[in-house]
Amino acid sequence: NEIYFEGLFGTVPALPMTFAELESKARSALPPSLWSYVAGGAGDEYTQEANAAAFRAWGLVPRMMVGAAHRDLSVDLFGTTLPSPLFMAPVGVIGLCAQDGHGDLATARAAARTGVPMIASTLTVDPLEEVAAELGDTPGFFQLYTPTDRDLAESLVHRAEAAGFRGIVVTLDTWITGWRPRDLATSNFPQLRGHCLANYTSDPVFRARLPKPPEEDPRAAVVEWAGIFGKPLVWDDLAWLRSLTGLPILLKGICHPEDVRRARDGGVDGVYCSNHGGRQANGGLPALDALPGVVEAADGLPVLFDSGVRTGADVVKALALGATAVGVGRPYAYGLALGGTDGVVHVLRSLLAEADLIMAVDGYPTLADLRADGALRPVRPV
Ligand code: FNR
Repeated sequence: NEIYFEGLFGTVPALPMTFAELESKARSALPPSLWSYVAGGAGDEYTQEANAAAFRAWGLVPRMMVGAAHRDLSVDLFGTTLPSPLFMAPVGVIGLCAQDGHGDLATARAAARTGVPMIASTLTVDPLEEVAAELGDTPGFFQLYTPTDRDLAESLVHRAEAAGFRGIVVTLDTWITGWRPRDLATSNFPQLRGHCLANYTSDPVFRARLPKPPEEDPRAAVVEWAGIFGKPLVWDDLAWLRSLTGLPILLKGICHPEDVRRARDGGVDGVYCSNHGGRQANGGLPALDALPGVVEAADGLPVLFDSGVRTGADVVKALALGATAVGVGRPYAYGLALGGTDGVVHVLRSLLAEADLIMAVDGYPTLADLRADGALRPVRPV
């Protein structure tokens, strides 16, 4: 309401109101190599573009006279009631997107201010304990890139649990990095990733492997990390992961219904339908097209979703297709680049305000109403 009325009374917002403008301003604000890393995707970026375009294939059917003056966007997730169904997807280099280089902390502060949960990446500039300390009462989740070294993986999970994170999101689609022409052209990878190893360099298991402390020899830390990053997990590893923690475990990168069933059988607490924003494999289906099949196979298990969400309308459509909660990656990274914590808050509040207004105008006061048969229809191709 606040954003809407400020607009009506002629206050010009300090930050862009559309994704296109946000993106173009972030491009000028970020150093070129960081910009290519954040904005870029796999191959010729067909899948990345298709992710966003897929939302245009669906339309909400308006309902009238249902009394939508008050909307309830809250969701229950793992025993916590969240004020809204939006969350921040893990973004590995987010720390570098802030002008002071501490974007992980700035993002956590935005989570604390909005109640929008943050999933903190394994690859952060600041250690996970410091990120957790900024979250206040807002739930945070820790995203695990499972190292090949099991002791180190266990240490990271135990640290996340001790720091107060409320769940572990295990990313499955990035044990190896995809074919990203923009990164290859700028050769930015070692440079950027080298700054995002705080969780490793602060870890006792990792430190014990190094000839010298990472403060004295940062290069050895990068070389060691490059050797242990990225274990290609198999279904048999799930029992081991499950044994590490009593926290909820979610698997990120799940798009096939059969994989949902295997995840359920393995005792996970939720699945996360995503194609990594089109950054990992080009030529794939838009993630939104995979969502209905994932929701059906999940059979009541929570389903998180991201990839291509750019507007409040997109949030509403993903919810109508059955997502329990909807994530954004690049939109909040651009907000951070332009305005730090305030920039992230601006992006999150704008997405939520638009989603809420659509539910008001179209007569869907609750998320359950959105999910009812007939709310969403395919758009006839033109
Ligand atoms: C990511 N993503 C990601 N995912 C993950 O599990 N761990 C990570 O460290 C990262 N790092 C990362 C860096 C950057 C720069 C981006 C843009 C993305 C993927 C992220 O969690 C999410 O799946 C996508 O960003 C969602 O797509 P959109 O919203 O960017 O289209």
